[in-house]
Formats: sequence, C-alpha cells, structure tokens
Amino acid sequence: EKFMPFVTELDFATGKLNPEGHVITRNLSHMKDMYYDQEAVRQLLGQNPLIYVVYNVVVPETAAHIQHCVTILYPGKVGNEYFMTKGHYHEVLDRAEIYFCLKGKGQLLMQTQDGAFASIDMVPGSVAYVAPEWAHRTVNTGDEPFVFFAAYPGDAGHNYGDIETEGFAKLSVEQNGEAVLVDNPRYGK
Ligand code: PA5
Ligand code: NI
Repeated sequence: EKFMPFVTELDFATGKLNPEGHVITRNLSHMKDMYYDQEAVRQLLGQNPLIYVVYNVVVPETAAHIQHCVTILYPGKVGNEYFMTKGHYHEVLDRAEIYFCLKGKGQLLMQTQDGAFASIDMVPGSVAYVAPEWAHRTVNTGDEPFVFFAAYPGDAGHNYGDIETEGFAKLSVEQNGEAVLVDNPRYGK
C-alpha cells in the first residue's frame, strides 16, 4: 500500500507544528546529571524548569523515510551553563542530519568517538550539516527560545547512553555576559 504525501504546518512565531505529532518534553529532572554544577541543579529542581520540547512528525523509522521535527529550546542557565539538549549519537552511527535555525540563537556542539570536537554558531537562516558519526547537542545562548528544524534518515535512531556516560568535551557557559566554551572537567574521567 502506498504511503501518501502529507504536509505539516510550522508556526514561525512559536516553532510549534500542526499537527503536533509526537511531542517530547524535557525538564531539568530528565537530564539533571548532565549539568556540571550539581549544587545549582539541586536548587533548581524544586521548580524543575522546562528545558526543551520536540515536535516530531511521525513517519516510519526506515531508511526509505526522512524523520523531521522542530525543537524549541528555552533560554536559561543551570549555574552558568546554558540550557541545552541531552545530545546523542545516532544509533546507526553513520547517519547524518541537517539543522536549520528558525529563531533565537545558539550553538551546535558536535564530537566524535575518536575525540574530535566542533561547534557551529546558529542564528536564523543557519543550515548546519551534522556529518555522519558526529554526536550533536544544541545550546541556547540567547534570551529567547532557540528554535530549529531537523531532518535525518528514518532509520538513524538515537543513542543517548554514550553521551550520558562520556559527556561532551566542552561546556557552554556564560562568562562576563558572553557565551564561551570551556573544557568539561568531567570529560573522559
Ligand atoms: O534529531 C535530532 O538530533 C534533534 O531533533 C534532537 O533529537 C532534539 O533536538 C532533542 O535533542 P536530544 O534528542 O539530544 O534530546
Ligand atoms: Ni540527531
């Protein structure tokens, strides 16, 4: 049986999709161990801020299809570390991805299993290519929601475990009002 073409509307003002599709909501409690300043985490956990929401268009998870979704990453910090996504490798490691920034500003942090690291600044109009085998995480370095659209092969999948274990090589933190990348003291430990 044929898979029929269809359309999803993206609201440029909010980043939300219509229909919403499969919605994933992540609060601080879902990723508390990922932030460096654990004292700041404890202080914020009572209010348990919403960090990001992902609206996923639902298509089959096979190589023939293209997964696509929008992420709304809210502004804020845990200590001096900016709100960020969990970050992941793709389960099928060599699957690439495209990130297209629609609103706000942020950073796309990437790293490979053999220790390479890269970061790309994202502003509306930036189309970033996450090459095969690169783990990826986004960070909101601004003061409004950072909204980006993503598309990737249907069979890619998400591997969160490796990033939970190893962390990212760099932390994105505010220093004197500026977003800077600093070495993650916990990386590789
Ligand atoms: O497919 C992607 O890489 C993105 O849509 C992310 O899944 C999304 O931004 C949320 O990040 P994470 O999956 O790391 O929690
Ligand atoms: Ni991905």
